[in-house]
Order: sequence, then C-alpha cells, then structure tokens
Amino acid sequence: MFRFFVTCARGMEGALRRELADMRIAGAKGDRGGVWFEGPLDMGMRVCLHSRVAVRVLVRLGTFDAADQQSLYAGTRAIPWRDWLTATSSFAVDANIRDTPALTHSGYVALKVKDAVVDALRNAFGARPDVDPKSPDVSIVLHLAKGQAGIFLDLAGESLHQRGYRVAMVDAPLKETLAAAVLLLGGAHADAPFIDPMAGSGTLAIEHVLAARGIAPGLRRRFGFERWPSLPPETRAAWKRLRAEADQAFHEAEHRPLPPVVCADIDAAALAAARKNAAAAGVDDAITFERADVAALEHRWPVATLATNPPYGERLQPADLDALYTAMGRAFERLSGWRVIILCGNPALERAIRRKPTVFHRLWNGPLEVRLLRYDMK
Ligand SMILES: C[S@@+](CC[C@H](N)C(=O)[O-])C[C@H]1O[C@@H](n2cnc3c(N)ncnc32)[C@H](O)[C@@H]1O
Repeated sequence: MFRFFVTCARGMEGALRRELADMRIAGAKGDRGGVWFEGPLDMGMRVCLHSRVAVRVLVRLGTFDAADQQSLYAGTRAIPWRDWLTATSSFAVDANIRDTPALTHSGYVALKVKDAVVDALRNAFGARPDVDPKSPDVSIVLHLAKGQAGIFLDLAGESLHQRGYRVAMVDAPLKETLAAAVLLLGGAHADAPFIDPMAGSGTLAIEHVLAARGIAPGLRRRFGFERWPSLPPETRAAWKRLRAEADQAFHEAEHRPLPPVVCADIDAAALAAARKNAAAAGVDDAITFERADVAALEHRWPVATLATNPPYGERLQPADLDALYTAMGRAFERLSGWRVIILCGNPALERAIRRKPTVFHRLWNGPLEVRLLRYDMK
C-alpha cells in the first residue's frame, strides 16, 4: 500500500474528489491544492490516465523531521532508493519549501536531497546514477514545511495538463485541466448540444467531447513511471491492462454519435488552431467549426450547454471590452432553456449579464483569481 498525494490547481479540490469517487477510489481526504488517498501503485497510475483535473500524482516514499541540512540528508538517505533507481537510471529533484528557517533556498535543498540519493545508490551499487533535470527517468519531489519533509516520486513526471493534443496555440489558451474543471463544476450536459462561441484553440469543446465519450485524457501521452527501471512485474502487468482497457474504450467510443458540438470564434486563425487540436485529440469528427461573432448567437436548440472563456481584457481597449460584454449579455438573453457556463476573469462581464448565477466557484487561472458562473436561462 502506498500513500498518494494528487495535486490540482486551487479551487479544484472538490472536482478532484468527485473524479476519484467516480474511479471508485475511496477515502480521499482533501487538502488545499490536492487530495490524499491510499492504495497500490497501479491505483496512482489509474489517476494519471483518467483524471481530467489532477496536475500531479505523487507517491510518498517517506516522511521525517528535517529542520536542518543534516536531518534532511539523513532522512533522505534512509529511504530504500535501490527499490526505485539503478546505477544507470537518471533522476531529478524538485523541492518545494516553506516555513523552515534553516532551509530557505529550494535549489540548495534540492542539491542536498540529490547528494543523499547519489550516496545511497553509490553505497548500494558501487556506481552513481546521472542527474538529468530536463528528461529524468525518475522525478523526485521534496515537500518541506515547518521542518517536516515528505519525499515523493512524481508518477507522471510532467504536469498532467499536458494531454498531448495541443499542437496549435492561440493567445491565452485555457489549461486542459482547468477547462475540464469548468465543465465538471459547471455541470455541462453530456447528452445535449454544446457550444463554445469564443472557443480560441478549442480546449473546452475538446474536453467536453473527451468526457462525453468517456475517453481517458491521458491516452495520448507517455507517463514518467513507464521509464522507471524497477517497477514490479505485477505492477507493469496492471498498467498494461489499464492502458488496454482505456484503448478499447476509446475505440468503442470513437465514432459514437454525440449531440452537436460547436466551436465558434470570430478569429479564423483561432478556429484553424482549434481544428488541428481536435484532430490531434481524435475528436474532430464530433465538432463543427464556425466563424461567427458571439453577438449573432442564435437559440438553435431548446436545451444546450454553452461554456466559454471570454477575453478578460488584457488586449482589448476598455470601450471595446464593454461593447463585447454588452453584446454577450444581450445574446445570452435569447438562450432560454440553456445552461450558460462562463469562466469569468472580469467583474464587468457579470454586471453586463445582469442575473444571479445558479452555480458559483472561485478558481485560479494561473495566478489570476477567476469565477466560474453558471446561469440557467429561463
Ligand atoms: C481567452 S480566448 C479563449 C481561449 C480558449 N478558451 C482556449 O482554450 O484556447 C477568447 C477568444 O474569444 C474570441 N473572441 C473575441 N471576441 C469575439 C467575438 N465578438 N465573437 C466571437 N469570438 C470572439 C477571441 O478570438 C479568442 O479566441
């Protein structure tokens, strides 16, 4: 049994707990910025493959007091590293530290952890592994807070928001994990038409199709643990099974018809990017791409989900932004029966909509606090 800490962006803990419950992972406990649970190693792999909102899946190797350099070195060295690394595998260390007066420099602290790992392995094998910060076989993470150290391995090795389908970029794309949380927390219908009228690179629509078809978000990427040198054979076999099941689910769902999904934007370059990304995600067959102004949005279905992430105003003049928000407010008035979900970074938009949201969540888009609002249009 291992103890896992699954991290997510602030505000998404509730969505993450809901996902873990759907994966039948019981007893997940919340914490700020993540969730803890216990289980075998392949349970963490399942989260890497299937979670739409998790950012990292960390497996804990040890905890110990580490108020100073000596205790940090001794505690790290005591971990049975030969279970996880060989003399020919490479590794890297990432350190997050706070409230430990004797250890304040994360680069230096990471170096101390690295020294302890190298010494432990040299002692075990008579040779030392390489440190490769860019592309390590094994990613080690230290969390040090108030003199308490936790040493983890990062199962995915890279942030899980990198699903592998973003082949074309636009300005200010949403992180895939945030788009998934918007749909989950906003309660997008899986079985009704869907439109993002300001779709940019198409992240919300792509995540919507992946979720509606039950396609594992991690299907198109490789994970760090696939390079770990010493995974037990039964864990490798369990991982093969998990992938095979997810592959089969994808092939079964691949051409399953869905209600209409529309990606619209006023900008032709954004639409071209959205098309490429949807093709890379294997879901372009389900999406229609339209060049249109949100002001001209029509009530084309009696029931539907509209989910969007409009410009917050970094690049527009204030007068243009006011005009855009007023046009959006007017267009949304026509959408009776629809669920309108907005990731809103500017209170002026809420004023222009002139309604009370039925659902409201505070989320963070990088460092920026944003509001997830859902309006059930009558
Ligand atoms: C913040 S970006 C959306 C990013 C998107 N969620 C993604 O993940 O890439 C806002 C988008 O709104 C589009 N937009 C701005 N004014 C518009 C209008 N009047 N009608 C339709 N789209 C508009 C922009 O072209 C831009 O692509």
